[in-house]
Amino acid sequence: MLQIKDINHVLYRHPDLGVVERFLTDFGLVVMHRTEQRLYFRGTCSLPYVYIAEKASEASFGAIAFAVESLDDLHQASRLPGASVIRALEGPGGGQYVALHDPSGRRIELVHGIEAVGTLPQRAALTLNSAHHKQRFGDVQRPGKGAAQVLRLGHAAIGVQDMPRHLAWYQQMLGMLPSDLVVEEPDRDRPSAAFLRLNRGSAWTDHHTIALFQAPKDFVHHVSFEVQDFDAQCLGHEWMTLQGWSPFWGVGRHMLGSQIFDYWRDPSGNLIEHFTDGDLFNQDSPSGYTQACDASLYQWGPPMSVEFFLGGECAAEQTVPRSTSDRQRRS
Ligand SMILES: [Fe+2]
Repeated sequence: MLQIKDINHVLYRHPDLGVVERFLTDFGLVVMHRTEQRLYFRGTCSLPYVYIAEKASEASFGAIAFAVESLDDLHQASRLPGASVIRALEGPGGGQYVALHDPSGRRIELVHGIEAVGTLPQRAALTLNSAHHKQRFGDVQRPGKGAAQVLRLGHAAIGVQDMPRHLAWYQQMLGMLPSDLVVEEPDRDRPSAAFLRLNRGSAWTDHHTIALFQAPKDFVHHVSFEVQDFDAQCLGHEWMTLQGWSPFWGVGRHMLGSQIFDYWRDPSGNLIEHFTDGDLFNQDSPSGYTQACDASLYQWGPPMSVEFFLGGECAAEQTVPRSTSDRQRRS
């Protein structure tokens, strides 16, 4: 079985890289490298990039990439049905990849050997005083305004028409484990949503790295990036709003995985999420079964829009920051 280390990066295609650069910078990513066709964005972690924006005539999703533990894993992957040969990656830090396709044809890349870079400075997590657990004495709380610095890519959520095939594929090909399944009793074998984590043995890993949900068509619903803490998320929300971007849904707390969430729609119409304070599971964590209802989606937060399940698909037109529209109107 392949040893998947972590989710590594995603690739999206956009018709306007300029406005996407502005959006993702306000979102808390940093341009690491640029070519004529691509922008490589990094977080504060040691990966040279976690998001690739590629110039294209139409917006589309490109790929989800996972890092594998060893070159031997890449060789194993290259022998899987439909896999590519091992090829060189184009981006900063080099490395190699094997391309696979999941049952709906979505490109999944397995990468290895990308050279790490130095981490970026990041505000330390705040020391919180809860009612009965005081831990900050004689010190003040001043996190400072600004974008929510993105640490790393955390997960992708995917709408699928054929849940059983996708569920089997992600478990059999990538070794993922079900953390939570949303089911209609008594039909436990046909979940309407599945939250899958990496198998990292006894090490703790995110509650889900891939989330699948039954949908009328196959599409990537959103990708999600981790930020430092709740204050970073709320300050980031305020920052995005001040820059003219309209919030999509958040801030709130999910049920399955417990993350505090905040969703935005990028200029091409894709959903992108900030998250913090998610659950960590390991190989011994049992799978949970939950009945489908709004309460299975979030514990608190603003009312959920029906557009949420449509993801980026509901965006018929590009989203532009209000200030840009204002400037265009004035000129
Ligand atoms: Fe998410």
